[in-house]
Amino acid sequence: MLDRVNEIESRALADIAAADSLQGLEQVRVALLGRKGQLTALLRSLGDLPADQRPAAGQRVNAVRAGLEQAIASRRTELEAAAQQARLQQEALDVTLPGRLRRIGTRHPITQVLDEIKAIFVGMGFEVVEGPEVELYHYNFEALNYPQDHPAMDEQDSFYVTDDILLRTQTSPVQVRVMEQRDPPLRIIAPGRTYRREAVSVRLSHTFHQLEGYEVGEGVTFADLKGTLAMFVREYFGADTALRFRPDFFPFTEPSADVSITCGLCQGEGCAVCKHSGWLEIAGCGLIHENVLRTCGYDPEQVSGWAFGFGIDRIAMRRFGVDDIRMFWDNDTRFLRQF
Ligand code: DAH
Repeated sequence: MLDRVNEIESRALADIAAADSLQGLEQVRVALLGRKGQLTALLRSLGDLPADQRPAAGQRVNAVRAGLEQAIASRRTELEAAAQQARLQQEALDVTLPGRLRRIGTRHPITQVLDEIKAIFVGMGFEVVEGPEVELYHYNFEALNYPQDHPAMDEQDSFYVTDDILLRTQTSPVQVRVMEQRDPPLRIIAPGRTYRREAVSVRLSHTFHQLEGYEVGEGVTFADLKGTLAMFVREYFGADTALRFRPDFFPFTEPSADVSITCGLCQGEGCAVCKHSGWLEIAGCGLIHENVLRTCGYDPEQVSGWAFGFGIDRIAMRRFGVDDIRMFWDNDTRFLRQF
């Protein structure tokens, strides 16, 4: 009997030590100490021994069982630690890998220019108003004193939704939209996107931006217009930028003028962007036509006003030294990331 116990003990210790997984160890435990285990069977068979041998044999078997339980427990701890270690190793993050940088976007150059210009005019007491890009023919042309089939509309061919609805070709309709709703005095700027059916070139795009500005009130004159624009140009382009007014024609202003500043790309030398003139046309302007005032329900005897419309893309080209207007629409991030 004692031989058998010793034999079981030494084989069990070897098996326990050899178990290389928690599962394997559990099998060893069941084979020894389970309901049908070897040691369990041995304990049961103690009853068959002569009474005087039983206590000693019982003690020995119990001691072996305690020892084996202990051995199993410590082997389990070892295996668990090894398993944990293996899992940690498997799940380990290599923190030395360079992370994926999330690229932070920049504001589009056109948006930047619009924001800068808005800030200057807001500082001079102007209010920002936006109008719809899909506009009625009425506001885009008719209410702005374009007679039917007037040649001035030729340079403003648009994309029509219906005969009466089009993509606005200018921000000027916002003048009428505000004036017919509100009474003077008004000092408004209206920035936004505008569209024309153009043959695209370095200077012309089918989609571009304007910023309309106007003032209406009693005794408003052309001098106010010139003063306001001169103030803006000095502030935005620098004190040494020259400003030029030349007579022009727009149906909704009388008199009308176009406004140029010295071309910043060539410093007045002449380049492709300024059509080799040294001047960059940035706006049309004038005194708001009596007919427009009347259409909006104003009395031209009582109030007068001036208006201008900036070409924002041209201004952005000068501001950033961009020599091709198409870059603003190409969506090439190599270009856009520079701003
Ligand atoms: N809307 C005109 C255009 O797109 C520009 C313009 C000219 C706006 C004279 C004005 C203005 O407000 O007074 O060509």
